[in-house]
Amino acid sequence: MCGIVGYIGNKKATPVLIDGLLCLEYRGYDSAGIATIEKDSIKVMKDKGRVNNLYNLDGINDLQGTVGIAHTRWATHGKPSKENSHPHMDNSKNFAVVHNGIIENYSDLRDFLSKSGYTFYSETDTEVIPNLIHYYYTNGPVSVLEDKRERFLGAVKSAVFDLKGSYAIEAISPLCPDEIIVVRKDSPLVIGKGNGENFIASDIPAILSHTKDFYLLDDNEFAVVTKDDVRFYDNGLVEHNKSIKNIEWDANAAGKDGYEDYMLKEIYEQPTAIRETIGSRFKLGEKCSFDDIEITKEYLSTVNKIYFVACGTAWHAGLVGKALMEKLCKIPTEVDIASEFRYRNPLIDEHTLCIYISQSGETADTIAALKLAKSHGAKTLAISNVIGSSITREADYSIYTHAGPEIAVASTKAYTSQVALIAILAMYFAETLETTSEAEIEALKSDLIDLPSKIDQILANTDEIKDFAKKVYTEKDMFFLGRGTDYNVALEGSLKLKEISYIHSEAYAAGELKHGPIALVENGVTVIGIITNPHLVEKTISNIQEVITRGAKTLVITNQILPNGHFDYIINIPETNPLISPILSVIPMQLISYYISKFKGLDVDKPRNLAKSVTVE
Ligand code: AGP
Repeated sequence: MCGIVGYIGNKKATPVLIDGLLCLEYRGYDSAGIATIEKDSIKVMKDKGRVNNLYNLDGINDLQGTVGIAHTRWATHGKPSKENSHPHMDNSKNFAVVHNGIIENYSDLRDFLSKSGYTFYSETDTEVIPNLIHYYYTNGPVSVLEDKRERFLGAVKSAVFDLKGSYAIEAISPLCPDEIIVVRKDSPLVIGKGNGENFIASDIPAILSHTKDFYLLDDNEFAVVTKDDVRFYDNGLVEHNKSIKNIEWDANAAGKDGYEDYMLKEIYEQPTAIRETIGSRFKLGEKCSFDDIEITKEYLSTVNKIYFVACGTAWHAGLVGKALMEKLCKIPTEVDIASEFRYRNPLIDEHTLCIYISQSGETADTIAALKLAKSHGAKTLAISNVIGSSITREADYSIYTHAGPEIAVASTKAYTSQVALIAILAMYFAETLETTSEAEIEALKSDLIDLPSKIDQILANTDEIKDFAKKVYTEKDMFFLGRGTDYNVALEGSLKLKEISYIHSEAYAAGELKHGPIALVENGVTVIGIITNPHLVEKTISNIQEVITRGAKTLVITNQILPNGHFDYIINIPETNPLISPILSVIPMQLISYYISKFKGLDVDKPRNLAKSVTVE
């Protein structure tokens, strides 16, 4: 998954392009490059390494061009290297392209172009694109068009028609120096509308400091972007109009606001994110409502199975969703990892409601799983944090967390907002189906409304958490245990630790450890237990006792009164309904992982090998 930026206007393109890439580094950061139109030729500056390295390239400051494209890479085809960095040009150096996605048939296209006389200088799939554009610009029906701009657009369209896979493409040419042509399929692309200038990026934060007015490009939609206007075409090159979306986020919302890292900022934004996600969706004494969807009792009464389908942290939110849906709506619910769901021939039909959870809304596995469900006649509902993201355009219904941009690769506020939103959705269904008493739902509403202040309580006193992290940051293994939703959140705590501290950890249902994994427990190993369900306190304590007798060092995160002297460390959190307690119990685990990563001197926001949104399968 990569990040792309484009600029066309009256200013030097280089600083706008590089600043945009810096905001997109969470999408990939093993190499970067820019291309600008300099008088009657294209100048490409690119290299392996982080975006900031571009400033060290000889001649970067001499670029005067006001039209340019740029790219920060997360390698999929070809190792991180200067040759494999984007932008890529065709052999004639008349076309430059940046691309986010995967061209699945690139080797066939490479063979065809090689046989047609083209030479390739990289290992990438992307390099076929500029050469295909050149091929169609100089061969076949497009090549005889008089108007160079029509010819350029026709050549891009013909090239794109040959591509199989996913792509967000920006193309420039000195033959048409006053425009950038863009097109997308399954990879995101937005156009920011300026005054005498226009911006292009993989997502909104990269250009939010320049404009709040955006066009959200749809799949298979082309756009010709000049400094004064943007023209849209369908894949038959029929021109059409498109509405502008005004995006509320302010530029700071996408910045660090004084925090050392995006992850810490986003952990501390959780009270606001929950408040915003609750929004106007319910008030005490009133029924839940969603202004973006209308799901009727007639339809819901026909649903005999719900699936939550997602990846990573979003999947962990789905696990909590299962408990909420089954308890409140009495509808059997399964939770699937998207990449598994797609290939296990799930039993789905028109009586199945499939709910897809995705912070970015661009995760390839999740989108593919959604398309599978639709092909079987199931209704699909997307839960995303990004307005207009691919998954929300594919689903029958879409609802949004309002967590604001989540930049750190490790998801925090998106997870807690997802659980809160799923709880509201479950209450909405339960009120519609009348499957749970008003009193029980009202109590849950009250607990949800109290969450932001309870999170603030936890965040107001993090010394113990930081001290614990200091004691264990050199550990090699760690275990997380819980029962019910405490097990669901243990999985999330374990993932946080793995992905930002690189410490190996396992999360187990507390009752399961004795069926084998307890063999791993040896003297001094660290075990973190989560206990928030009053009905499961004794059982979970006895499970944790089992590891203590084998020499484990224990930390327990709880809102229950526990017997003294059993555990090495206890972190107390406020009480709430066990169905939504992961929203509170996850906070100490987010912070433990954050501080461990900091003590280890690691890059918390951009952990090795990872990307914020995995738009490849
Ligand atoms: C979580 O911290 C990771 N960044 C990762 O597991 C992530 O949750 C997963 O890739 C799903 O992303 P999505 O929510 O954007 O679909």
